[in-house]
Amino acid sequence: MEQNVYMQISVVLLLLFFMMVDRCEGSLTPAQQDPNQLQQLSVDLEPEFEGTIQNISSPTGREAILTCSVKNLGRYKVGWLRASDQTVLALQGRVVTQNSRISVVHEDFHTWRLRIRQLRESDRGCYMCQINASPMKKQIGCIDVQGKLCSK
Ligand SMILES: *[C@@H]1O[C@H](CO)[C@@H](O)[C@H](O)[C@H]1NC(C)=O
Repeated sequence: MEQNVYMQISVVLLLLFFMMVDRCEGSLTPAQQDPNQLQQLSVDLEPEFEGTIQNISSPTGREAILTCSVKNLGRYKVGWLRASDQTVLALQGRVVTQNSRISVVHEDFHTWRLRIRQLRESDRGCYMCQINASPMKKQIGCIDVQGKLCSK
């Protein structure tokens, strides 16, 4: 029984030995493997949106949040734009519009939330989350602002 175990161990060791010899003499040296692996890596790391931006509907005075999630952003940047006139509202975590009701929240490294407070009817419309890759990538989320309900 015990001998059997030793046999198995020596067979495994022998196999390991041959694999190592094979690796040294074989055609797949690490240096030759590397370029392929790097190429594979850069293909995998194209920035991509995770899921889609959900449209929302909110009454005036309330706030609206549009969520954009990106993976493999790498060296690229994420921006939020107003779709109708392509005004840039925020770049990465920084707000660039004068509109003080707008803020951007950067979370979990890959999520950018555009937040508009005290909604006005003029905020109604679509907003674009854009990645400055080439070609440029974008996703759109729309906000429907409901007018005030009549008070009795
Ligand atoms: C959001 O609304 C826009 C415009 O109405 C539409 O094109 C888009 O498909 C909607 N997105 C979702 C996730 O429903």
